[in-house]
Amino acid sequence: MKILVTGGAGYIGSHTIVELIKAGYDVVAIDNFDNSYPSVLESLKEITGKEIDFTEMDIRDKSALKTFVKNTPGIDAVIHFAANKAVGESVALPLKYYENNVGGTVNLLEAMQEAGIKQIVFSSSCTVYGEATPPVDENAPILVAQSPYGNTKQICEEILIDQSKATDLTVVALRYFNPVGAHESALIGELPIGIPNNLVPFITQTAIGKREVLTVFGDDYPTKDGTCIRDYIHVVDLALAHVAAIDYLAKQKNEEAFSVFNLGTGEGNSVLEAIQSFEKVSGIKLNYKIGPRRTGDVVQVYASCEKAFKGLGWKTERSLEDCMRSSWKWEQALATKENK
Ligand code: NAD
Ligand code: UFG
Repeated sequence: MKILVTGGAGYIGSHTIVELIKAGYDVVAIDNFDNSYPSVLESLKEITGKEIDFTEMDIRDKSALKTFVKNTPGIDAVIHFAANKAVGESVALPLKYYENNVGGTVNLLEAMQEAGIKQIVFSSSCTVYGEATPPVDENAPILVAQSPYGNTKQICEEILIDQSKATDLTVVALRYFNPVGAHESALIGELPIGIPNNLVPFITQTAIGKREVLTVFGDDYPTKDGTCIRDYIHVVDLALAHVAAIDYLAKQKNEEAFSVFNLGTGEGNSVLEAIQSFEKVSGIKLNYKIGPRRTGDVVQVYASCEKAFKGLGWKTERSLEDCMRSSWKWEQALATKENK
């Protein structure tokens, strides 16, 4: 099977390409390098031993995308990662997010329809649940989105539902909890541009000396140690779920045209537990302080992953310590590269 991966140079896309190739799939990847670098293609070649079939392409360019998809023979399914993902930026620049995340998805679906491609795996997010009672399963109500970014994920899911009703498109929407970690080779990982918003890159950048101190956003929440709870999932486990989702569509295991699965570990960890886990695997005492709450943070969210286990035959295999170990190895590899 040949899989088109949009956003293939990005964090989750690059890890998924590795696992697709390992599983024997042919991959065609596109990306506009809005939030990634061409050097990732070299790293992918080093890991997989294969040249990646890659084209620089912006999915907002509808006619170029249509021509590309039509002229690339044999695409059986698409995994659609390409999107902007910074929650804060989406509040300041909502149109950028609607144009890219929603408009880009519409363009892609049109291109797929014209080329007769009938299977898509879509990157959604647990942000659609807002503040829900964990463990959160797929039947939890979808709340009014907290940000334009979150709204784009909800809108795209709705578009995919409508398109799957109107045509013979089959869809798997994967709602990721908190993806962290990096490939064990330390050749690919997350590349936060500027000051990271997310916890784990902030931890590793503080440990390496790029940031002076990590601020823990609030320790007065009603949780075990007062800090927020999240479900941190290793990016390689996440990548493997995409391979399972492709297999699920290919073997027509889906009972409905639109299927949705949570992807998490099923366990919640607090911010302080994440820091302790990092300190344990790195042997470094992290410089952190307690600060005020961050506006918009939900108190606790972690997944019920029963549906993915039953439907996709998938579950996570990597621990929080594995996440921290690989993130730290990646940060150190980045520092070595920068010092060269
Ligand atoms: P990322 O930014 O590392 O990867 C996205 C890739 O898409 C980037 O390489 C970027 O250059 C590319 N891209 C963006 N707009 C494009 C366009 N118009 N045309 C072509 N390429 C384009 O992000 P990621 O963490 O790998 O996220 C992948 C997907 O997963 C996104 O849809 C994101 O919203 C979703 N998601 C991510 C998280 C997370 O915490 N990382 C959580 C939930 C959902
Ligand atoms: N945190 C800190 N200090 C930091 C950064 C984060 O204490 O410097 C805390 C946050 O307050 C939160 C936890 O660490 O309690 C995790 O924060 P992240 O920013 O890493 O992750 P979020 O859960 O806030 O956000 C993630 C994705 C979003 C997505 C959201 C859905 O980054 O894209 O999950 O819930 F929308």
